[in-house]
Amino acid sequence: SFSTFAAIALENSRLKDIEKYGNVETEMMKYVSESERSLTNTIPEKLRFQSEELKAKILTINVFSCDLLGIDHIRTVFYIFNRFKICDEFDINNEMLFKFVFELWKTYNDVPYHNWTHACDVLQYTAYELHIGELENVFTRLEIFALLVSAICHDANHNGYNNIYNVKSETPLGILFKGQSVMETHHVTITINILDKDELNLFHSLSKENVRKMWNIVIKLILSTDMSLHFNLVKNTSNLLDNNEFSFENEDHRQIGLDLLLKVADISNVSRPFEIADKWCTILQEEFFRQGDMEKENGIGLSSPMNDRENNDKPKSQIGFYNFICLPLYQVTARVFPKLQVNVEHVKENLEVWMKMVKQEE
Ligand code: AMP
Ligand code: CMP
Ligand code: MG
Ligand code: ZN
Repeated sequence: SFSTFAAIALENSRLKDIEKYGNVETEMMKYVSESERSLTNTIPEKLRFQSEELKAKILTINVFSCDLLGIDHIRTVFYIFNRFKICDEFDINNEMLFKFVFELWKTYNDVPYHNWTHACDVLQYTAYELHIGELENVFTRLEIFALLVSAICHDANHNGYNNIYNVKSETPLGILFKGQSVMETHHVTITINILDKDELNLFHSLSKENVRKMWNIVIKLILSTDMSLHFNLVKNTSNLLDNNEFSFENEDHRQIGLDLLLKVADISNVSRPFEIADKWCTILQEEFFRQGDMEKENGIGLSSPMNDRENNDKPKSQIGFYNFICLPLYQVTARVFPKLQVNVEHVKENLEVWMKMVKQEE
């Protein structure tokens, strides 16, 4: 209907951002001095964390990204790209990284959950996984670079509605990408559009062969975040492990390893301290309810009970999600990367809390 279309168009509008934040050049002047722009291996003074406390937390699970200031999200990107020596190795100067971050940030919409904060949250957790998993010895520099770029780009321009809704209510994206991973294909397209511009092209230093490799990994990674592929990935990986066939010598298996890390990061809210997990859940619910409101308004039927504002049991829905989706993924990931077993334990601890809440309700 027109009202659905108008609502989505309005929400996708970047006009308010452009009015509010000006252009990238003026924005960059505030944070990157002339002399710092061309540097690759030194973070601009104003883009360093101002508190040691925050810096020390960035490679841990104890971060609630919604508490970070806008500028701290940019600082997080700068810190992580430098921590994993991406800027140095791939000749990305401060100006290019800042412009890339700014242009990418603008593509994220002002929706409750699938916004820039979630993108930074997933990047942060990915860095945490690489760190505690000691995965710098497992993956190549190129693969780590691909994973970090994919993490920050993986939900670019999300409209706050899931694939089923986009197809069912015939949003332009739903019509265009019907029968494929609707939103994920869109996130990839947005990513390509950004990195295709010379001044934003983080891959500029790569050889032709490595550019091809890079895009293959990034495209597969972002597409693999489609939850409709979830059970296949978990099952496929379990089978390979059961048959002792999984091998880091195999390119496809390396890609599976990366896919698992990004997918774990994408639902990482469930493995953070309970208070943080609970806050994320409330935020996500708001987005689900918002979709449910539209479904009611348009008489197209609710996609799932989770979209119903009036009838919702938070702990019960979380128990289902933890048992059927999260634990199998976290467990198989820990079989591939044994140091990540701690995250399985965190998910189990949170599950216990949700279960206690249900018992108390009864
Ligand atoms: P680390 O792993 O903590 O030794 O630091 C890795 C990178 O962080 C180095 O490239 C430092 O230049 C950078 N760095 C050091 N202090 C800060 C800070 N306060 N905020 C952001 N980055 C920093
Ligand atoms: P997305 O970020 O696109 O990909 C992962 C999906 O998992 C996410 O959208 C949500 O639909 C879902 N998800 C993540 N966290 C939770 C949660 N705590 N409870 C229920 N669903 C979740
Ligand atoms: Mg997504
Ligand atoms: Zn996501």
